[in-house]
Amino acid sequence: MWLPLFAARETFERVDRVNESWIVILTVGYVILSSQGMEEHMAIKVILIVAAVLLVGLVAIQFIPVQRTNPPVVTQLDWDSAQTQALAQRACMDCHSNETKWPWYSYVAPVSWLVAHDVEEGRREMNLSQLGTDANRLSRMSQRIQRAIQSGNMPPAQYFPTHPDAQLTADEKQALIVGMQKTLSKPPLSK
Ligand code: HEC
Repeated sequence: MWLPLFAARETFERVDRVNESWIVILTVGYVILSSQGMEEHMAIKVILIVAAVLLVGLVAIQFIPVQRTNPPVVTQLDWDSAQTQALAQRACMDCHSNETKWPWYSYVAPVSWLVAHDVEEGRREMNLSQLGTDANRLSRMSQRIQRAIQSGNMPPAQYFPTHPDAQLTADEKQALIVGMQKTLSKPPLSK
């Protein structure tokens, strides 16, 4: 019951931050223009015009279509444990499966473009919802997963601010690596 309330509060807080950044941008613009010797009413006019142009642009780009698909899940991993599944869901599945949770900001350009691009690229590299059954390929996949986690490349840093619990501890990373090794040693189940 509280969940929608928390979600709403979080959304408002973010909107609040967006509003604050607008005020900062406008104030900075005003200070710069008046320091250049521009008269006050001219400076305000210029800033309002710039703000209006930005706003119209921001509204306009919302109409550019963005692909937010969740294609059918073809194969399901035969998870070795609920823990591995939970860790992968926390840290990897949004970009490497067909079960992406599309957050509200993935509906707002230009952020939506970045999110959709990450998911598209992520799925192309490794889609855990459509793996074959070839044992060699699966074993190579688990090696790539190990490297990606150990090198700290995955999950990518831009994912953390909005998904703080994707930041795994050293123990959790180890558990995910070993868990994925075990999981990928069995062929995935077709759906
Ligand atoms: C925010 C989206 C996102 C998340 C979350 C994410 N990845 Fe990725 N992943 C990508 C993208 C984009 C690429 C392709 C570009 C690249 O390699 O940097 C990629 C590439 C990869 C590759 C292929 C790299 C290679 O060279 O073999 C592996 C393996 C991988 N990710 C594993 C993971 C694992 C494991 C997790 C969870 C611990 C994870 N990813 C979380 C987006 C993501």
